[in-house]
Amino acid sequence: MSSKPISYPLMEKIVALSRRRGFVFQSSEIYDGINAVYDYGPMGVELKRNVKNLWWQDMITSRENVLGMDTAIMMHPKVWEASGHVNNFHDPMIECKKCKRRYRIDHLPEDSKNCPECGGKLAESKQFNLMFKTKLGSTDESALDVYLRPETAQGIFVNFNNIVSSNRVKLPFGIGQLGKAFRNEITTGNFIFRTREFEQMEMEFFIRPGENAQWLEYWLQERLNWYKSLGINPEKLRLRPHTKDELAHYSIACYDIEYEFPYGFSELEGIADRGTFDLTQHIEYSKKKLQYVDQENRGAKIIPAIIETSAGVDRTVLTIMTDAYWEDEENDRIVMRFSPKVAPFKVAIFPLFKKEGMPEVARKLYNDLRKHVAAIYDDGGSIGKRYRRQDEIGTPFCLTVDHESLEDKCVTLRDRDTLKQERVPIDKVVSLIIEKVNL
Ligand code: GAP
Repeated sequence: MSSKPISYPLMEKIVALSRRRGFVFQSSEIYDGINAVYDYGPMGVELKRNVKNLWWQDMITSRENVLGMDTAIMMHPKVWEASGHVNNFHDPMIECKKCKRRYRIDHLPEDSKNCPECGGKLAESKQFNLMFKTKLGSTDESALDVYLRPETAQGIFVNFNNIVSSNRVKLPFGIGQLGKAFRNEITTGNFIFRTREFEQMEMEFFIRPGENAQWLEYWLQERLNWYKSLGINPEKLRLRPHTKDELAHYSIACYDIEYEFPYGFSELEGIADRGTFDLTQHIEYSKKKLQYVDQENRGAKIIPAIIETSAGVDRTVLTIMTDAYWEDEENDRIVMRFSPKVAPFKVAIFPLFKKEGMPEVARKLYNDLRKHVAAIYDDGGSIGKRYRRQDEIGTPFCLTVDHESLEDKCVTLRDRDTLKQERVPIDKVVSLIIEKVNL
C-alpha cells in the first residue's frame, strides 16, 4: 500500500468532519501540529473506547481460555534484542539530497532517481530502525537506553512464566492486551491510518506445536467476524495472505485483514503464525526456562507455538468512520451511519422549547437514560439543526419532548437512518433504547 498524501475527497471530508465535530484533532495544533500524531476529542474518544471495549469483550471476557494483561510501555532493552527488533525492525529509506525529505523505498515507483516532491537527486538507500529510543535513569552515567515498545506483544511473551504459574491455564490458551505502541514511521499519511503513536489490540494464543494451521484458520474467521459485527460492510473486507518476501522476521505464515479505503485495500489487522520464535529467543537471551509442562502428554516440557492476532485501534476507528460516512442528498444531510454499538452517543434528548415544562421532562429522561447509555442533551437551535448535529456524529436515536408530551406522556422517537418517527410512552423509553442499542 502506498502512503500518499491525503488527496482523496472522501478522506478529506472525514478529516474535516472529525475536526468540526470533535472526533480527531492534529496534536499540538496551536503550534502548527506535530506530524502523524493525533488527539481524540469527545466524540472520537467515545468511539475509540467502544471499539476497545468490544474487542476486550469479544477476545477476553467472553472466552474461557483467554486472559487479559496490561504491561509496561518501557521494557528492558534486551527484550528488543531477543525479539529481533534491534536488528530487523527496519524500513529501507531514501533521502532527497536537495529538500531532505525521506521516503520508504517501497512507497516510491520502482527505480526512482528523483524526489517526487522537488525533483532533487535521491541519495543511496539506508536501513532506518523504526523504534524510538529514550533514556531511563537520572544521571547520564547510570541511564539505560530504552525503547518505546513498537508492539505490545513482547510484554506478553516475557510474562509467559508469570501467567502460567499464577493461573490455572492449559494449552491452548491466549493472553491479550491493548495499549499504546510507537513507531518512527518514515512515511505517514492517510490521517490516523499510519501514525507514530497508536494503539494495538493484540492476543497471543499459545498452542501445541503442530496445531498451527488449524488455529490460524480459526482465528482468521473469528477476527473477520468481529469486524463484521461492528457493522462494517463485509464486501469491503478481505483476507490477504502474505507472500514469502513480505513476512515479518518472526512469522512463518501471516494473513492481513484488509478494508477497501478510498486509497485501496489496506491492512487493519495481521494474523500470524509466529511458531516458537518468540519464546525460543527469550529463552536464549534471558537464560530462563519459558516452557509448559504438558500434563496431557505425560508431563512433557514443551515450548508452545503462538498464533497472534494483532489489530490497530486507530485503523479500526478510521475504518468505521470511512464506512459510515453517507451524504444523504435527498434530505440534504451528512450522516455517520454507525452501528448503535459503536456510535459515540446512542441517544439525544431535545425539549422542543426551553419553556412550558418541556425542559424538566426532557432533563429527567436524559438523567434516566444516561445511567444506562451514553446520552446527549441538546436544547440549542431549531429541531432541524439539532437533528443535523446528531446525524453528523452518528447518534442513532433522537427523542423530542413537545407540548403533547405533557398530556399524553409520550415522546417522539426519530430513527437516524430511516427518518421514521414514532410516539413512545416515556416510561418505556429507557428499556426500548437499551434494547435497540444492544440488537
Ligand atoms: N505484533 C505484531 C505487529 O505489531 P504489525 O502488522 O506491525 O504487527 C499490527 O502491526 C497492527 O498494528 C496493524 O495491522 C495496524 O492495525 C496497527 N499498526 C501498525 N503500525 C501502525 C501505525 N504506524 N499506525 C497505526 N496503526 C498501526
